[in-house]
Amino acid sequence: MNIIGEILEVDGIKKRIGGILWNGEEIRIRVKELAREIADDYGVLLEQYPDKNLVLVGILNGVVPFLADLLKELSKHLPIDRLRYDTLAISSYGRGTSPTELRVEKDLKNPIAGDIALIVEDIIDTGYTAVYFKQLLVHKGAFDVRICSLLIKATQEEHEVDPDYIGFKLKRNLFVVGYGLDWADLCRFLTSIAYLEDID
Ligand code: IMP
Ligand code: MG
Repeated sequence: MNIIGEILEVDGIKKRIGGILWNGEEIRIRVKELAREIADDYGVLLEQYPDKNLVLVGILNGVVPFLADLLKELSKHLPIDRLRYDTLAISSYGRGTSPTELRVEKDLKNPIAGDIALIVEDIIDTGYTAVYFKQLLVHKGAFDVRICSLLIKATQEEHEVDPDYIGFKLKRNLFVVGYGLDWADLCRFLTSIAYLEDID
């Protein structure tokens, strides 16, 4: 289905799907590469610390498709008895597209103290959310905390955080949807990552 040009309307605000930045195949290839990079680093770390497990901490809801694909790829390269995942949810963006206060809505299922944690995010804009999660996991006693984000917005001069693993960089200050990412909870199911245009 061609989604370019589709109009979305929420609470009287209209946006148009402007174009595709990365299609499903491009995403699949990049996730595979990223998983290899992550597995190379963590393979060494897991050997070094035989009593510790790697826990991917996915930030709901946007990360779901990315987390699932990344885990499947990682399980091909890392010892499966040392790999886990858990999820956290906070509220940051509501129906708008600018940051607000952060609050934990769903906590981790299992204690993370002593574990090697990899935070998995859909997108980093200012980096406030990722910093918040990193501090939270350090506070919970995680042994090692790093960050992997599918996307990063390269428009900011400086981010609050330097992610350890990045899938794609956005060249312009675009608002993107698809592959988990939403505008007002719409478009999360798209297989591609697309940008939205304002309609005045
Ligand atoms: P940050 O705290 O400014 O880094 O914002 C990160 C969060 O904002 C992400 O986890 C997303 O939920 C949301 N976000 C930022 N930019 C976009 C976008 O272009 N599309 C969809 N969600 C976004
Ligand atoms: Mg998010």
